Amino acid sequence: MIADPSVASGVPRVLVFDSGVGGLTVYAELRKARPDADFIYVADDAGFPYGGMPADRLLARVVALMGDLIARLSPDIVVIACNTASTLVLPALREHSTIPFVGTVPAIKPAAEQTASGEVTVLATPGTVARVYTHELIRKFADSCRVNLVGSTRLAGFAEQELAGQPVDDAVLRDEMAPVFIEREARRTDMVVLACTHYPLLLQRFDALAPWPVAWIDPAPAIARRMLHFIGDAPQGVEAAGPAKAIFTSGAAPSGPLASALLERGLVVEDSKKWASDVTGV
Ligand code: DGL
Repeated sequence: MIADPSVASGVPRVLVFDSGVGGLTVYAELRKARPDADFIYVADDAGFPYGGMPADRLLARVVALMGDLIARLSPDIVVIACNTASTLVLPALREHSTIPFVGTVPAIKPAAEQTASGEVTVLATPGTVARVYTHELIRKFADSCRVNLVGSTRLAGFAEQELAGQPVDDAVLRDEMAPVFIEREARRTDMVVLACTHYPLLLQRFDALAPWPVAWIDPAPAIARRMLHFIGDAPQGVEAAGPAKAIFTSGAAPSGPLASALLERGLVVEDSKKWASDVTGV
């Protein structure tokens, strides 16, 4: 059992979870909101990608893994920085633990409120596109729009490559993005919901390759506000915490470029060997 200095000192410990590095786009906003918090970032890279994993397997994996992580790390709150997991596992997680869970789900409501053309694309993983939860959001909030659901099998991997210093070619990325943009009856897609936390890592490239300008909706600032709802604002004049811990469930050491990218974001990789053996047998 790992010692838990955060609880004793009154500094909240926040566990941020994703299948890989996508959750870093959420983590950046969480850290801005509570720079003093004791963050631990967990990437279940041994299970990546979640996007194509059968729902029953993903549910069992995340529930088991989270049980273990909570027991070892005693977080005060967990942020599931993954749409593919959040749209499926939140009810089960809440059943198993009393600590608050903040999820990341497709930002369909703001997109539907802001669209001028009425053409909205939800860019997600195949898993998120298939979820009942996602279809319910569309039914509730985007009834008056035409919603184009795009489940990409490759973009999350491209984002992982980007951060690891091996970006894919423009032509490959442009092909994968093509279904995002729809033009019909003189109306064009004007809102794109980034419904996978990996995708904002490619935002500059998306913008450069888009056939016409669109607004990209990233839910990360809203997730940070939701976290503050549970743990409160940072006390006045508080100092930022030092580098936070990152854990990769595979136990593999990150490449040089990835380690630098993590460090730039205030994260240092924990020697994950001791995690990998126990945690990934789920
Ligand atoms: N980052 C995850 C999401 O928000 C999924 C990426 C994957 O593992 O396929 O959906």
